[in-house]
Amino acid sequence: MLLSLFLQGKAQEKKIFNETDAQKEARLAWWVNDRFGMFIHWGLYSMPARHEWIKNYERLTDSAYQKYFDLYNPDLYNPREWARQAKAAGMKYAVITTKHHEGFCLFDSKFTDYKATNTAAKKDLIKEWVEAFRAEGLKVGFYYSLIDWHHPDFTIDRVHPQRPNDPKDYDRLNKGRDMEKYRAYLKNQLKELMTNYGKIDILWTDFSYPGEHGKDHNDWNSLELIKMIRKLQPGIIINDRLDLGEYDDGGDFATPEQYKVSEWPTRNGKRIHWETCQTFSGSWGYYRDETSWKDNKQLLVLLIESVSKGGNLLLNVGPTSRGTFDVRAQERLKGMGEWMQVNGRAIYGCTEAPAEFKRPDNSLLTYNPTTKRLYVHLLDYPLQRFELPGLKGKVKYAQLLSDGSEIKMRGTDKGDLALDLPVRKPNDEIPVIELVLQ
Ligand code: GLC
Repeated sequence: MLLSLFLQGKAQEKKIFNETDAQKEARLAWWVNDRFGMFIHWGLYSMPARHEWIKNYERLTDSAYQKYFDLYNPDLYNPREWARQAKAAGMKYAVITTKHHEGFCLFDSKFTDYKATNTAAKKDLIKEWVEAFRAEGLKVGFYYSLIDWHHPDFTIDRVHPQRPNDPKDYDRLNKGRDMEKYRAYLKNQLKELMTNYGKIDILWTDFSYPGEHGKDHNDWNSLELIKMIRKLQPGIIINDRLDLGEYDDGGDFATPEQYKVSEWPTRNGKRIHWETCQTFSGSWGYYRDETSWKDNKQLLVLLIESVSKGGNLLLNVGPTSRGTFDVRAQERLKGMGEWMQVNGRAIYGCTEAPAEFKRPDNSLLTYNPTTKRLYVHLLDYPLQRFELPGLKGKVKYAQLLSDGSEIKMRGTDKGDLALDLPVRKPNDEIPVIELVLQ
């Protein structure tokens, strides 16, 4: 029993790197503080404009997909304008697809012809992007697809556009394809990305799908890759999709995709770093006819709720094939920016509130442990009197965050704190009360 507990303890500590918890916290400090980033999915799939998985969904062959490469022409591409909008929305970092599953590279790679420099774009789109985002003071991250539906050595698996209906056909279809060669390609390209663009703050690898006709860390040689990446970019933060979950440090943060976590995620009983990635409307790539766009309030709740559970939000924009942000995306970024401009203090540097603070109905709490301020986000604006359970005597001062105006308060006999809110809802989508704690 004791021995097995000991072994279990050992197994939990299986690590790749010699980094202490404190060193890891220091490496991730800016990211934990910043909380809000922009994801950008851009590629040839912005032309069919009906999902970035179009090649898979419609089982398109390379030759059927070729017209998108031949006609790709992002003539309105202006990454400085993207960066300006990201910053105005309150985002502090951004992650762009350097290559998505379709295999097309937005960067100039020595190891393929299937790249932006060989299209009408005629340039390394990533280089310009990195410069533009850095110039706005945003941290820069690369998304890199482990999957590649264009590379001739990438074996056909269950998510490949050329997947067979009859599993018996896999062997025949994969004759001549050599994952060894693909692994070298993967490594070479990641090396280029980690060497040719200066300091890269985040690497977002995507994704592993172990099991029958799937791919796992052995297919990518993930262990070797992560060692190379951290060596070339010692400060980089890496997501958790290399399938190295058996190691404590096989990824820096968890990536719940398109769903809200019910509580702060844990591993072996310990709270972990996490970031939810979300879209405005469902697909990641530009999808012209999608009508399922979230509204401003839903998006703000997504952000606030993530921070209220100790996490980040990476919110995606899928630019058009001309290289612009769709009007619907621009409107939403603007809406979030208006709120963030006055309420950002309830997001940056904030996290889950200590358990002693109970969340009143229809609200979310965030907390800044450095300034010791508690934020009550009013999702459904109440009538004048608003009670905070158990807070009598614990608050020095209360104000509306957006205009810094005092909110009168008094302790109740039950030990609660009663606040006198203005009857009229302040002009914020979600008003925030800032409580300066004793
Ligand atoms: C998924 C999808 C993909 C998207 C990604 C973002 O794994 O394959 O299209 O890029 O998630 O999280």
